Amino acid sequence: MPKLLLEVDHVGHVYQTPEREIEALKDVSFQIEEGEFVSLVGPSGCGKSTLLAIAAGLEHPTYGEVRIDGKPITAPTTEIGFMPQKDQLFSWRNIRSNITLGLEIQRKGPEFYRKAEEMMEKYGLRDVGRMRPDQLSGGMRQRCSLIRTLVTDPRFLLLDEAFSALDYQTRVAVSVDIHTIIRNEHKTALLVTHDISESLMLSDRVIVLTRRPGKVKAIHELSALKNIPPMERLEHEAFGSMIKDIWGELEVHE
Ligand SMILES: Nc1ncnc2c1ncn2[C@@H]1O[C@H](COP(=O)(O)OP(=O)(O)OP(=O)(O)O)[C@@H](O)[C@H]1O
Ligand SMILES: [Mg+2]
Repeated sequence: MPKLLLEVDHVGHVYQTPEREIEALKDVSFQIEEGEFVSLVGPSGCGKSTLLAIAAGLEHPTYGEVRIDGKPITAPTTEIGFMPQKDQLFSWRNIRSNITLGLEIQRKGPEFYRKAEEMMEKYGLRDVGRMRPDQLSGGMRQRCSLIRTLVTDPRFLLLDEAFSALDYQTRVAVSVDIHTIIRNEHKTALLVTHDISESLMLSDRVIVLTRRPGKVKAIHELSALKNIPPMERLEHEAFGSMIKDIWGELEVHE
């Protein structure tokens, strides 16, 4: 039986600014099961990053709640790993000490540092451990950022436009790479992306939000694509029509 991991339950969010109130999210509900890879797409400014910040415990919703394993998220928790849009590696730390930063903060024991070494080895970062972030390509930095998020062993990963800073070819390669790592490590993930084909290549399910205030507009179960590796999905006969359907739902042309 699949286990429910994350529940977004009637979440709404209104930002108060000196000039006006901005309603970012309106009554958003969905659920994610353990092991699922879900993408969230929606027009710019519809509240995607706000939703991720709420799920990461960094922002409190105006109403509703997000739960992990039935427990409401009210503050950042080690159960949730957040990979922000910008990789936020510290330029003065080398790659190895960037990767172990979370372990230092959380005062983790030696077994976590061993695991960090293993993951660096497994995912091709060992040789660059002593280098500084600015000596690495964008793709390697993203990989480093993901491994840093994974070494603290979170159950759930939140990825906000994780690949958007990369050029197209690199983005495809890195997103497939990161997808493989997430699958290998048996994690559950929610990915925010602007890129419909990226969402179709990587996920089991795509959630489409409306324009601001973001509400759930549609949920697409990718049953036809689910067990196909990301690159091969591009050639699936249903791929093109799925892009068209989601594109139509995004309301960018209305
Ligand atoms: N701290 C804040 N104070 C006031 N308004 C905010 C704040 N953060 C976001 N907003 C507003 O809330 C709305 C939703 O913002 P959010 O960043 O969540 O959108 P998004 O879907 O992630 O957009 P994008 O696709 O461009 O990244 C926007 O109108 C934004 O201007
Ligand atoms: Mg955003």
